[in-house]
Amino acid sequence: MTGGGEREPVARTGAIPVGGATIFARAGVVVAQPSPGVFVAFDSTCPHMGCTVRGAAAGTINCFCHGSRFRIADGTVAGGPARHPLGRRAITVRDGHIWLEPT
Ligand code: FES
Repeated sequence: MTGGGEREPVARTGAIPVGGATIFARAGVVVAQPSPGVFVAFDSTCPHMGCTVRGAAAGTINCFCHGSRFRIADGTVAGGPARHPLGRRAITVRDGHIWLEPT
């Protein structure tokens, strides 16, 4: 079968720091590794006013627009003004790569 819509992986697992997260703006996703070998992914759009989150440090994914911070383990709010968590994205980890599931 040709042209079967083979998807590209969003990242190699090695690109995601343990205890941190990496933002893939083109894919609109943040992939975090809260503990070794555990990967979770979120929308990179801040639920406060729609900026793209820009960094991760000290266990949180951070939005520089107004300073909201989200926990890398589950995307919940660690510091406002955001009141809602980052949207969760389904992923598959296979062959050392992270694959986004269709939404
Ligand atoms: S848009 Fe992210 S904190 Fe306001």
